Amino acid sequence: MTFQGFSGNGAFQFAGNINLRFGTGTAQTLPNELQALGARKPFVIVDPGVFDSQVAAPVLKALDAASVAAHVFTEIEANPRDSTIHRAFEVARSSSCDSVVGLGGGSAMDSAKGVGLLMSNGGRIADYDGINKVTTDLPPVVAIPTTAGTGSEVTANAALTRSSDHYKMSLRSPRLLPKLAIIDPLLLRTLPRGVAAASGLDALTHAIEGYLSVRASPLSDMFALRAMELLATNIRAFVANPENLEAASAMALGSMLAGLVVSNTGTGNDHALARALGGLCDVTHGIATGMLLPHVMAFNASARPERYVDIARAVGVAVDGGPREVAARTVDEIHQLLRDLDLPVRLRDVGVDKEKVPALVEVAIKNVGPNPRRTTAKDLEKILLAVY
Ligand SMILES: [Fe+2]
Repeated sequence: MTFQGFSGNGAFQFAGNINLRFGTGTAQTLPNELQALGARKPFVIVDPGVFDSQVAAPVLKALDAASVAAHVFTEIEANPRDSTIHRAFEVARSSSCDSVVGLGGGSAMDSAKGVGLLMSNGGRIADYDGINKVTTDLPPVVAIPTTAGTGSEVTANAALTRSSDHYKMSLRSPRLLPKLAIIDPLLLRTLPRGVAAASGLDALTHAIEGYLSVRASPLSDMFALRAMELLATNIRAFVANPENLEAASAMALGSMLAGLVVSNTGTGNDHALARALGGLCDVTHGIATGMLLPHVMAFNASARPERYVDIARAVGVAVDGGPREVAARTVDEIHQLLRDLDLPVRLRDVGVDKEKVPALVEVAIKNVGPNPRRTTAKDLEKILLAVY
């Protein structure tokens, strides 16, 4: 195997300082794990949907049985706002909490990071938008995903919306990496079909955008290809029945690996646009990343055609013919996947007004980051209109 396919001189960075427990039933170990971290009074942020679905009940019961004085907080929303995080922080402070647990999808886990950040660093969430603005270590933050999607349990990022202008901020600092991730596939078993599908597409988008990123490295590539394979092979069976433990475990592993990838490679045009759609139009993150994926992949195909052959192989698409042909076939497969999973494929179907396109482009163009093909505002507008 030759050393090829990487940009520049082959130098790269990779941070993988993660600490995790994986497996069915691991969520029950939360009281012991908190004790090991020296946490006595955790502020437990639970996604309201997860709370209502009873998925959280056994975990909260375990805390109760171990006499852990937890304060449970469920007042968070999708695309969580900084105002919500400040309110949550006030409750955590007045309850003298010394640690934070996020139990839910990306919203709950990123909210937990936000509250932990304010506990040790003070100030306002908006002060920390961008790279490496966090100066003090957080108190113990434990992330327990209940979707196979964001991979936030192993990322050093938090996506939080600035209430004043609906801008979706991206806070990035190694200090935002949770002290512990507990990944228990049993927690996925009551996921509603639409959430399972959308969050799975988000994970697949992470793996693919990470693999195409100009910051991809030999290490991130290993995780990205494995993630694509796990996710693409299992997503249909998982969405059909999240109680299929084998499929759920594969999805949980795949989304975690994909999170590890994007934490190192960043994301490209898909996430730039999806973040704008989340902030300005409140489109669910996984719905946005999914419907954008085939269009952004088609746009990027000319930049790294050889990588599309690897993606095709990983997601189970035939690789005969030239790279262009393979890329087109892979894009078709993603379109088909969206249809098979009954996911919305047009912006107009999720309540986005066409007049919002210029504002979306204006926000997104600042965040195209390590996208493999150089991108103009006009390009983003074309992509959005194609998805519209
Ligand atoms: Fe994402």
